[in-house]
Amino acid sequence: MAPMALLPKVVLAAVLAATAVQAVPQDVSATSAASKDPCAKIGGQKWVAPADVRACFTSYKVDETVKSNIIEVINKTLAFHTSTSYQIRAPGIFASEVHVNVPQELARIKKQSYRSEYDLHVDLSRTLKRLNDGHATWTFGCYSIHISPEAFKVASAEFPDQIDVWQNALPFSLKGKLESFAGAKVLAINGKNPWDAVSANSAIAGSYQALGTRQNGFFSSYQRSTSSWNYLLGNFAQQSLPLSDSVLLTVQRTGHILPDIILLPYRSRISSSSTAFTDTASWRSGNCVAKTGTNGADINDSGSMSALTEDPTAQYEQQPTVPPTKKQLLNVMYDDSPLSNVVLPQPLQPSLPAINGSRSVGQFYMLKDGKTGVLALGSFSDDDYDEFLRGLLVGLLNLKSLGASQLVVDVSNNGGGYICAAHWLHRIIAGPKGTTEPQAGLDTKARAGPLAQAIVDELNKNPELDPTLQLNYNPLNWRSENNEFFAKTTNWLRPVVNSVINGVPDAFSPRLGQECQPEGFSFNPPNEALFDPKKVVIVSNGRCASSCSLFSITMAKKEGSKTVVLGGKYDVKQEYCGVVGGQSTNFKQIDTEIKTTKLKDHELAPPDLLVNGGQGITWRLAFGVTNTAEPEEWQDHPADLNLPITAALVNNPVAIWETVVAKLLA
Ligand SMILES: *[C@@H]1O[C@H](CO)[C@@H](O)[C@H](O)[C@H]1NC(C)=O
Ligand SMILES: *[C@@H]1O[C@H](CO)[C@@H](O)[C@H](O)[C@H]1NC(C)=O
Ligand SMILES: *[C@@H]1O[C@H](CO)[C@@H](O)[C@H](O)[C@H]1NC(C)=O
Repeated sequence: MAPMALLPKVVLAAVLAATAVQAVPQDVSATSAASKDPCAKIGGQKWVAPADVRACFTSYKVDETVKSNIIEVINKTLAFHTSTSYQIRAPGIFASEVHVNVPQELARIKKQSYRSEYDLHVDLSRTLKRLNDGHATWTFGCYSIHISPEAFKVASAEFPDQIDVWQNALPFSLKGKLESFAGAKVLAINGKNPWDAVSANSAIAGSYQALGTRQNGFFSSYQRSTSSWNYLLGNFAQQSLPLSDSVLLTVQRTGHILPDIILLPYRSRISSSSTAFTDTASWRSGNCVAKTGTNGADINDSGSMSALTEDPTAQYEQQPTVPPTKKQLLNVMYDDSPLSNVVLPQPLQPSLPAINGSRSVGQFYMLKDGKTGVLALGSFSDDDYDEFLRGLLVGLLNLKSLGASQLVVDVSNNGGGYICAAHWLHRIIAGPKGTTEPQAGLDTKARAGPLAQAIVDELNKNPELDPTLQLNYNPLNWRSENNEFFAKTTNWLRPVVNSVINGVPDAFSPRLGQECQPEGFSFNPPNEALFDPKKVVIVSNGRCASSCSLFSITMAKKEGSKTVVLGGKYDVKQEYCGVVGGQSTNFKQIDTEIKTTKLKDHELAPPDLLVNGGQGITWRLAFGVTNTAEPEEWQDHPADLNLPITAALVNNPVAIWETVVAKLLA
């Protein structure tokens, strides 16, 4: 529902229309209905106080049937999530960052009573976020709050002279009318050391295992998007729940001796993309109950077309929209806010000409040194898979023909996408060799619970259930560890690999080989390397996940490419990527697999979800490069260079690329 924005009010002060709406006194004649129904007070409004949003949300009591349904769906869906047992205490360096026993937590939540459904949602959402695994996010459209596209356009149009400051290791973005605050040092947030606020946020932000990566999400950053460069506000300016009413900042402006203390109220904006509502009843019916496409469907049932093509949770995938028709394997992050579409202020956008081959999220540039090519890649998704692969090849070939002998790949905020596109990029850069043929990717495994095995058994008995190989469990989609396709009669989950992880007995498939080459490559890759991989540098703010991790890890660990992370606290180690996964999916797809194989009556099958929600999972987990017997997910990905952000570099891609070249490629 109600996507809303939480922005410091001063930042929005120049959004005149909006503030004017706020200034209009309540119509007294309308308050009698509103006083009885707290949702009527915010219904039909654009700008509202977070406290009023909370009053509406917390007025809706828990329906015990709905609560049991949500818990059962999450519980039974997570039985297909490869990482559940590992996440009780993550192996290796992330042991102190990832330690949630989700089955136990769900049992706790089941017993606990909540003042409202909103409180239940906050507990569920936060509990799953503590996995710090952006593949395993719980989304609930009823309470998901984000900045509307309109708000972004207005805000960026109103504030062309974006001021971003990172001083004393703390960036702080204030805009427009607040230009006297440019370069100000942030001395305190809510009376405490600013890093306390960053830490408090990183404890609840979720998505990435590494502390440094979660900290970096507090600050603003940039990303190449389909049609322009995006400016991401960061978790300080944009919060996903209406929890804070205001923030008290103590700042010292440049040239001033005495600090200023400013109170910035947060405001929530109800987006026009939510179903409009006027009261509790219309809020619930328009935004909270299950929609067409919330649940899966039998793919062979001609009546289920709309359930299969419509996907109310697709907006939470951190990638541009991909067509539902052509099936390509995905590995992509979920978040409870959709991708940003605030535009990066013009002066910060690269002014270099885009080289032939550039399209959508992938843009190629030649730096002024005449020898460094740049690929800015904001995602591994595109609305045309084949053209995406072609663009990557054409762009690299053109850079070479222009004289590029080294390459910077900027993957800031790249949340993944097509798995085989990641391997394609690795293969065409590095050329044919032992690390790219027969596969440029990594072996994987899936979880092999009893229902998963039963799904494959049904497909073995009757392959006509899935004649077009749409199902993830279809044996014809996979190859053994020797890279040989399974027969349609093979249950590829067996013999099950029994493991005990964190004291919990678990079961996985045998090791799987590669899934992309050559069929997943739409074109023949070149017969030689396009660049020396050692002269390739991968740059990001650490927020590179899923397929982006698969690309970066194989380039860094197998090919010796260098990695750079921008910014971060000086004493916190920076990882160049996170949330590797192997292949991600969600409740809806699992439900489709179950319904297509007619197993909805199985005792382990999740029921249909009653609400407008979704649960993401990691469906396959990639094996490591260094430790090949364990998942890559929790292995180390230390950046070769941690580049401190200065006022000259912040959110300025070209300045960043030139600095990276001077430090690592000169
Ligand atoms: C989750 O599912 C398992 C297996 O069916 C069951 O034993 C457990 O009680 C369920 N947990 C909750 C909270 O319902
Ligand atoms: C772009 O490159 C492709 C492949 O090299 C070529 O066919 C096409 O003509 C080029 N277009 C331009 C505008 O240079
Ligand atoms: C599924 O559909 C295909 C063609 O659309 C058909 O050949 C096949 O028999 C169907 N399978 C079942 C089990 O109905």
